[in-house]
Amino acid sequence: MRVTVVNGPNLNLLGTRQPEIYGTTTLAEIEAMLREEAAGLGASIRFVQSNHEGVLIDEIQRLPAVADGLLLNAGAYSHTSLAIRDALLAVKVPFVEVHLTDVTAREEARRRLLFADLAIEVISGRGPEGYRLGLQQLLLHLRGR
Ligand code: DQA
Repeated sequence: MRVTVVNGPNLNLLGTRQPEIYGTTTLAEIEAMLREEAAGLGASIRFVQSNHEGVLIDEIQRLPAVADGLLLNAGAYSHTSLAIRDALLAVKVPFVEVHLTDVTAREEARRRLLFADLAIEVISGRGPEGYRLGLQQLLLHLRGR
């Protein structure tokens, strides 16, 4: 199984970005943890991070050629991007949506998730561990198909 992990805007700053909200774990540390988890689960994994909506869409459009499943934290675009929703609908690659924080308990604007209804599952508020859980759930789904 080939999994792509896509992280959106500002997630490259994890570790120093509002640590009181997002914690001190860096994106590189999350990726290292996922690489280890994927190896243990016999899956291959690749990582993409961009601060640009169009780049994220280009990456989603490429997924059918390079991945069986997607682990997605689109950051603030999760609340705003109809274009990312359209890309996900176009490629139909199964995905799990991850948020470090519990977006349902934050500001009103963060409660609206524009593609959560398309996801196999949304994991929110579990911190970095949420990515690991998301990878496990994604692989269970892909292997059960
Ligand atoms: C986030 C939540 C979003 O509201 C925010 O814009 C992010 C990170 C999370 O992982 O908790 O950038 O997706």
